[in-house]
Amino acid sequence: MCGIVGYVGNRDAVPLLIDGLKRLEYRGYDSAGIAVHSDAHLHTRKCVGRLRALEDNLATNALRGRPGIGHTRWATHGEPSEKNSHPHLDGSARIAAVHNGIIENYQELRDELQAAGHTFLSDTDTEVIPHLVEQELAAGAEHFEDALLRALRRTRGAYALGMLFQDEPDTIYAARLGSPLIVGLGDNEYFIASDVPAILNHIRQVIYLNDGEIAILKPDGVVVKNLEGETVQPALKTVDIAPEAAERAGFETFMLKEIHEQPRVLRTLLERHATKQNRVELPEAGVNGDYFKQLRRVMMVSCGTAYHAAMYGKFLLEHMTNLAVETDLGSEFRYRSPRLEQDTLFVAVSQSGETADTLASLRLAREKNCRVLSICNVPGSSMVRDSDAVLYTEAGPEIGVASTKAYTAQLMAFALLSLHIARVREEITEEQERERIASLAGIPDAIHYMLERADHIRAIADKHHDGPSALYLGRRFNYPTALEGALKNKEISYQHAEGYAAGEMKHGPIALINEYMPVVCICTKTDDEVYEKMISNMKEVEARHGRIIAIATDGDRHAASIAEDIIYVPETREEYSPLINVVALQLLAYYAAQARGTDIDKPRNLAKSVTVE
Ligand code: F6R
Repeated sequence: MCGIVGYVGNRDAVPLLIDGLKRLEYRGYDSAGIAVHSDAHLHTRKCVGRLRALEDNLATNALRGRPGIGHTRWATHGEPSEKNSHPHLDGSARIAAVHNGIIENYQELRDELQAAGHTFLSDTDTEVIPHLVEQELAAGAEHFEDALLRALRRTRGAYALGMLFQDEPDTIYAARLGSPLIVGLGDNEYFIASDVPAILNHIRQVIYLNDGEIAILKPDGVVVKNLEGETVQPALKTVDIAPEAAERAGFETFMLKEIHEQPRVLRTLLERHATKQNRVELPEAGVNGDYFKQLRRVMMVSCGTAYHAAMYGKFLLEHMTNLAVETDLGSEFRYRSPRLEQDTLFVAVSQSGETADTLASLRLAREKNCRVLSICNVPGSSMVRDSDAVLYTEAGPEIGVASTKAYTAQLMAFALLSLHIARVREEITEEQERERIASLAGIPDAIHYMLERADHIRAIADKHHDGPSALYLGRRFNYPTALEGALKNKEISYQHAEGYAAGEMKHGPIALINEYMPVVCICTKTDDEVYEKMISNMKEVEARHGRIIAIATDGDRHAASIAEDIIYVPETREEYSPLINVVALQLLAYYAAQARGTDIDKPRNLAKSVTVE
């Protein structure tokens, strides 16, 4: 989704804006632009496509200035084109705006402004904002801030805004309602940005603007106000992310780096929550033992990869407790009539904490007086702030668009949460808890082992990547793993892939199987009947000459005798096997994408933080 960056201070804004926009590239975009103050005027540069085009433009047509605002656009209203790229200007070219979000009543405002003589140059909803401010200034607003507040009160929808005004050459205005925006504090210089990693190298503290707040940034300080124009005291948070966390650290892509970070991320999460007494404690989660004891029902909502994590969470909680657990997609949940009662724990699962559909569902649950727990990766995000309790996944910034370490961290968070709840409700014994913690403690090393097998996985990906389609099958805890493996493959390699519950194959997808179809079968060995059933499903594929790639437990000769290719994984408890198995599927997708020559960190059309419906 769109990315915003802005700078006010004594340095030339242009290189800082370009650097910030590069760090926001991962959010997904199709065009970019900047505006800076220079020679008492506002100057803009815009380009369609990658930031390189904007850099080339600046190389041939140099621009210096300060302060400045920049934007990467992910098209919603109007195709990706230069005229639709931000910043947008008012009619007099004295006001520039960059915007993330959607102004829902833009058509009505645009009609009104056009009738009053304003001319619009783009198809965007954003362009009404500078024009509205211009109109309010003409209509007698005392000053820019007053005009901005009046204009914002007339809009409906969501915005994160950065604005420049020609007559105030030392100021950036920022505003937030429903879309993320932060203010970064450096040494006598200030930034705005869509997220912390964009400006990490320059700031020590950050203000997470609240909905309905504006910020006025000058080289000597920042003032935050509400939409009534009253000054509010912002909370300053110290930034505790190391700058290297947002760098590739020698890896060819962020995605590969993040895949390799998984052992460390999971170890940290485990060490934080599993005490020396081998007991899971979740003090930060903020929901206490008594609450879990009387709890009856859990409703989990999320999107995409986080939805697969929630499915896993549901299976695990149902396996370990007698809670009734339901999951839904954010985009569906908010438009059905869910039975939400006060005794329901609502769990939002999200890497970014900003996904519009999950956030709207969370707010719906709040309206129904549910207790809200977020499992989230980004401190200060909207979901975190709107929740009663938070379980942080602590995976660090995830820059690759395709989620990897955030997913396994979500699985680990569910493993810890389910142990905690089960013990508090006396549904497992202390001994059982100890055994499970010991099993979880082995996961980081098992993932290391998978990473060491990367060359073998690459060879399998090289062999199978060129077919038009692939099927992924799994059962029980590994049914979400199959969905996630297929999602990873299609998003980064663009090979069509379908994840299915293996038992469902005969109800439809079996029609697709022939000698060209790769079928990834997750058949890690367990004591129960799921393994046998999975083997039967593989036999069904074999009988139709499908090309089986098995994800199987080390030394499983039976699976090897059926499969064309096999990826061995270390043995673990069945319920924790998805944490290891999915790493094999991440690598399989990664190398398929590499063989197909795609832009792995920035797959086409995708956005990292989906802040529109
Ligand atoms: C896939 C992926 C997306 C996200 C989804 C939800 O690799 O990253 O499917 O999982 O957009 O995002 P969050 O977790 O930020 O709510």
